[in-house]
Amino acid sequence: MNIDVLLGLQWGDEGKGKIVDVLTRDYDIIARFQGGPNAGHTLEFEGFKHVLHTIPSGIFHKSAINLVGNGVVIDPVIFLVEIDALKKIEPKASERLLISRKAHLILPTHRLLDAASEKAKGKLKIGSTLKGIGPTYMDKTGRNGLRVGDIEQPYFLEKYQQLVEKHCQLLDNYGFDYAELPELEKKWMDAIEAFRKLQLVDSEHYLHGALRENKRILAEGAQGSLLDIDFGSYPFVTSSTTTAAGACTGLGVAPNTIKNVLGIFKAYCTRVGSGPFPTELFDDTGEMLRKNGNEFGSTTGRSRRCGWLDLPALKYAVQINGVTELMMMKADVLDTFDEINVCTEYNYHNQRIDHLPYASDPEFLKPEYESLPGWNCDLTALTNWKDAPEALVNYVKFIEKHVGVPISLVSVGPDRQQTLKI
Ligand code: GDP
Ligand code: IMO
Ligand code: MG
Repeated sequence: MNIDVLLGLQWGDEGKGKIVDVLTRDYDIIARFQGGPNAGHTLEFEGFKHVLHTIPSGIFHKSAINLVGNGVVIDPVIFLVEIDALKKIEPKASERLLISRKAHLILPTHRLLDAASEKAKGKLKIGSTLKGIGPTYMDKTGRNGLRVGDIEQPYFLEKYQQLVEKHCQLLDNYGFDYAELPELEKKWMDAIEAFRKLQLVDSEHYLHGALRENKRILAEGAQGSLLDIDFGSYPFVTSSTTTAAGACTGLGVAPNTIKNVLGIFKAYCTRVGSGPFPTELFDDTGEMLRKNGNEFGSTTGRSRRCGWLDLPALKYAVQINGVTELMMMKADVLDTFDEINVCTEYNYHNQRIDHLPYASDPEFLKPEYESLPGWNCDLTALTNWKDAPEALVNYVKFIEKHVGVPISLVSVGPDRQQTLKI
């Protein structure tokens, strides 16, 4: 059996969590492959809303195993808060939750280093979620990291101390005050004790066994393709491979086990944090998107920057990921717009181009828009695609024509039910 990959095609927060939850009934295993608690995946059903950060979004379905893969970075303190919140609703949730021994641990000093690095960057800061993601992946690739499996080994405390000493030297170099470290460490060590009781596994072997048994597996991405460490708007990116290739390295599965790549995008664009955003709107229209879409970060509460749909950027993400089907989210947010703009090309140094160039300085890269008529009606109660207004159908067709991949699902509200299969 094969693995399907679901990932975001923009700058994150496309609605991945909602769709993983909707699709989980078709899968036996949901496996997160990268990122960490910088993610915030929102699920809504039966009048109840839940935000997951590290735990995969299939956790509310009793039939599915949820696996946190080796490519993920885990903060045990945040992880346990998540589990405690879950247990109130699903007391047996941790019985269907597996954690890779090869996943790296976020230490309290990683978080402090994240803050120190951002402070030192001043105006050029990335706008990190300050969850310690960058420093943890740096230690992973620098071959200094501490992994989940290490907590079962006799050398764990010694290795922890060695790493913390190194971090304290770096913090001293930054001139960053870390007086709160002992308090943070106490909480972290307590969390590690609780973490030991969870199901730690050699996840790549587990997944290979599952593939042999013909289990259906969905790999859940975090962040978005335009935040990818290689292909995103570097350096304003996250520190992991958010694209489909990340599912192979983040789960230990071969490329030829991947079948469908489900690409999630919003009917417009948003971004949190710094970095280029060609179609960003600074006017009342942008404000309307933010208000209608409730565009405030699920992890940090920060206001999201908003703009029109960017087709050259979407096409780029589709190519890098080999997307086989698209899913368009938050169509309802455009319900009240008479005209909807879509960027189809850029004006770059006074030339028309239809791809994202290496340097996307807003002074030289301007979006060129085509305007499409809005549908001007409430989509949120729609239950069947057959009843979709003509203007929405045309909007979908317009995107499909430009990007060359079919749209198989349109989302018209945050709830599980507000999902239209095409
Ligand atoms: P993720 O990180 O990709 O899982 O997305 P987030 O959960 O961070 O952000 C998506 C937000 O949009 C959440 O608040 C969702 O509840 C909400 N949402 C998802 N789909 C829709 C939709 O179709 N319409 C509206 N209005 N909200 C949606
Ligand atoms: P989900 O999975 C949106 C952004 C941050 C910052 C940059 C680097 O919910 O879509 P980091 O904390 O990784 O060092 O931050 O990436 N970012 C996200 N933006 N959604 C996310 O995750 C994000 N995770 C990180 O805002 O600009
Ligand atoms: Mg999110």
